[in-house]
Amino acid sequence: MNAIKHLISIKRLTTETLFNEIIPACINMVPQTISAKATTPNHSLKAVLYFDEDSTRTRMSFAEAIRLLGWDMAQETLACNSRNKKESWLDTLMMWYNYNAKIICARTHQEGVHLWLAEMVEKYNLNMSIINAGDGRNQHPTQTILDLVTIQNKLGRLDDFKIGFVGDLLKSRTTHSLLDALRMRNNISIVCVAPDNVCLPAYHAEGFSNFTQGSDMELLHDCDIINSVRWQAERLEPNSHEFLAFLRIKQKYQINKNLLERLKKGVIIMHALPIDQEVEEICHDIMDDPRVIPYQQAWFGVPSRMAILQIVSQNLTQHISFNHTRNAVIRELKKSSLSEALSATSRKQHDHFVPLEHGMVIDHLEPGSGIIIRMMLKRMEGIKDGIMIVENTKPHKDMLVIKENFLTNDSMIRIAGLSPNATFNIMRNEFFRKIKIDQPQQIISGTGKCLNKNCVTRSGEPSISPRFINRGKNSHPFECDYCGQHFTLSEILPLST
Ligand code: NCD
Repeated sequence: MNAIKHLISIKRLTTETLFNEIIPACINMVPQTISAKATTPNHSLKAVLYFDEDSTRTRMSFAEAIRLLGWDMAQETLACNSRNKKESWLDTLMMWYNYNAKIICARTHQEGVHLWLAEMVEKYNLNMSIINAGDGRNQHPTQTILDLVTIQNKLGRLDDFKIGFVGDLLKSRTTHSLLDALRMRNNISIVCVAPDNVCLPAYHAEGFSNFTQGSDMELLHDCDIINSVRWQAERLEPNSHEFLAFLRIKQKYQINKNLLERLKKGVIIMHALPIDQEVEEICHDIMDDPRVIPYQQAWFGVPSRMAILQIVSQNLTQHISFNHTRNAVIRELKKSSLSEALSATSRKQHDHFVPLEHGMVIDHLEPGSGIIIRMMLKRMEGIKDGIMIVENTKPHKDMLVIKENFLTNDSMIRIAGLSPNATFNIMRNEFFRKIKIDQPQQIISGTGKCLNKNCVTRSGEPSISPRFINRGKNSHPFECDYCGQHFTLSEILPLST
């Protein structure tokens, strides 16, 4: 994605766009926010605020930003929207479009909705833009942008500092998004303090040379910034055991007078708000301490959201491609007559050599992946018979032999997503072709299942299909492109189903 037509997640922005375009634009909006004077009305732009989760700051600051820009606005909650009657996202989007909404700022309980909506905008060529105002526990990019503007304002820089996160980090979309942005900066040290059951999965540490996680508040002592995070009780069952257990130890994770005195001189305490008054993650008696800045932080929501709205509105007519298979390059390694190819292969005397006259041999599959790919082909291509697995040859690899059948390009791209070194040998009508697929990222699309029940791919939305990106390095490398959760291959493609 180049032009920022949709704001779905921080990860989908380039460093250049976020720090050289968006942040300066937010700072430029500060004078108008202070003056509180609306620009000349522009009735050609209408924004919809759709919030199916509670919000004061995000919703109100979007509304104020829209007023200052002079646009029209419609506000919807779940209580008044037919999503409550199980209308699909696609039909909801089409209705917003029918009634001339150009910019959709949506907060959803479900995760991954915004990417799906943006994909539909592009597929149906709608002149609309999608902004994520928070999706479940996944992402909250506009909060991150206002957090960065706050840090720039208070600290005078966006590099070279130590920042601590404390609270329910596992379920905190504000933390996940802010970490994605800080990963793009230089010399940022991260300290995470959380009870064990809500600490961050290991992959969040990637890209930081200094990342510490623990449950001891003393880890925060030399931080320049501390970001206090609310316990996300609404993401648990009411009166859940987890929340009740947390209430008993809540004081341990509180920012209070006593702790404040032990922290680094000049520390700033941030919080996206709201503070849960039962938990008091920041004690109320320190809210007017100059080091505690959540009210100012929330104020920066207005100029930040004004800038974001203005930037996306300028890019409304751009077309953005989400089709990952378009990035794949199909490379022909060899082409000859079948007899030439067969004699060359038999000369090498592989013990696993399988002569085949009409069909395909998929070679150089990662050991163990053959069985998964065979299942995928049965499920997706409907190839019921004639797939033979040759396992654990020397050197170690799997091979699949498919008799009397040929795969589509999409299917080969999917296989290369799982096993990037795969080569595809095609024997057809006396001819032989060997091809390989290169793609910038390993992507599995159109198959598998996201384990997150709250992911939009599990919502029953017609025609949505899962997509995973292989991030490679960690124990759970397959990231759901929609909801952002990470899984192992056998979790998303279990052999039994
Ligand atoms: C945050 C959110 O909704 O994720 N609040 C906000 O947008 N200002 C944080 C929270 O609710 O804890």
